[in-house]
Amino acid sequence: MRDFDNDDGHMLFGGMRAEAIAERFGTPVYVTDENILRENYRRIYNAFSKHMDTRVHYACKANSSLAILRILEQEGSGIDAVSVGEVMTSMKAGFPASRILFTGNNVSTAELRTVADLGVPINIDSASELERLAGIDTKIPISIRVTPDVGSGHSEKVVTGAKGSKFGIPADLVVETYGRALELGFRPFGIHAHTGSGGQTPEPLMDVVSVLADMTNAIKDEHGLDLEVIDMGGGMGVPYRPNEREMDIEELASAVTDIILDETSVRTVALEPGRYLVCDTTVLLTRCHDVRYTGTKNYIGVDAGFNTLIRPAFYGSYHHVAVANKFNRAGEGKYDVVGPICESGDHIARDRALPAPEEGDLIAVYNCGAYSFSMSSTYNSRPRCREVLVNNGVAELIRDSETIEDLWRHQMIPKRLS
Ligand code: LLP
Repeated sequence: MRDFDNDDGHMLFGGMRAEAIAERFGTPVYVTDENILRENYRRIYNAFSKHMDTRVHYACKANSSLAILRILEQEGSGIDAVSVGEVMTSMKAGFPASRILFTGNNVSTAELRTVADLGVPINIDSASELERLAGIDTKIPISIRVTPDVGSGHSEKVVTGAKGSKFGIPADLVVETYGRALELGFRPFGIHAHTGSGGQTPEPLMDVVSVLADMTNAIKDEHGLDLEVIDMGGGMGVPYRPNEREMDIEELASAVTDIILDETSVRTVALEPGRYLVCDTTVLLTRCHDVRYTGTKNYIGVDAGFNTLIRPAFYGSYHHVAVANKFNRAGEGKYDVVGPICESGDHIARDRALPAPEEGDLIAVYNCGAYSFSMSSTYNSRPRCREVLVNNGVAELIRDSETIEDLWRHQMIPKRLS
């Protein structure tokens, strides 16, 4: 887990006191450090590209804020998009269609048509999708997503590659599906799999590349088709807890590219990191408004609930928390950090050793760059919060908070009820 500097008891983030950022922009607020984002991109791209031609397709479901996308576009990234919304948002941020790969799941023919019309390459997810796309356009570049029968992930909710998964072509049907694609007039350029998200060990990612290498060779033997790209998906883990080990990206890149270069004639590897690029770039700053001692539990009541950060409530995920204005002060008791949502599952953190809290304290929640703002909601009619980008001590607003009026914007009351 990435930790932050301490300036005389105050947490520093991106060269600024976290308290100064919270005072200026209000809370709750997501704050991203641009330098960390750029470093993360360069680290993973360089690890792979020193071995072979590499395409990084950022899985923008993790965080699709325009400023974040802009930075990754500048770095040379591509995009893994799962919806027309993600495709168009990426294009708005400056990505050309050719650097986006659309990997939908159970998408409608209308959505496929829109994506094809935008000229975005499509990663086929099912036999049905292949037949439906053939009715639209067979000249569009395609790859095919397979179920590798290798799964990984921090929760069963995010394992995608295991046998029987709803994602991809079942392993035993892959070779014949490439045959069908050729028969329909497509010329697939690649093969793709994604094991799942948030696993902490590299082994499943190495295993999946072995499976894809074998399939690539079987496709070549059967159909004489030389694939150009093996796409290993995302799932590169990030440590969320203090002292948790980082995934060794250098070792992963070396192992994966060895498999591809030694066992196949493919010369381009693609990867789709989401969490790895953005997770540790961002903290959520949330203000303590309420402190209560119940006899059995001590609560720090803050202004971010599971409307703002759903991962702890939804997956039971651990996010490290610290008191930014009592930074690195020893814990004086155990506290649950809870939000304003009217459900008892509204937890940000449980049983954490923290300095004695007071109303007005500022709580920093770590590792909130991935699947955090992008999964936030307006539940309990609480408008979504702001996002701020920090660059070497300069903070800028990149998304304003929604207003109460925004909550009503797309609603109407039938005349007869007025
Ligand atoms: N590629 C595909 C096809 C995916 O479905 C995903 C994530 C990724 C790449 C990126 O995976 P990553 O590198 O970020 O692990 N909301 C969950 C995570 C869901 C991930 C869904 N797919 C969470 O908060 O942990």
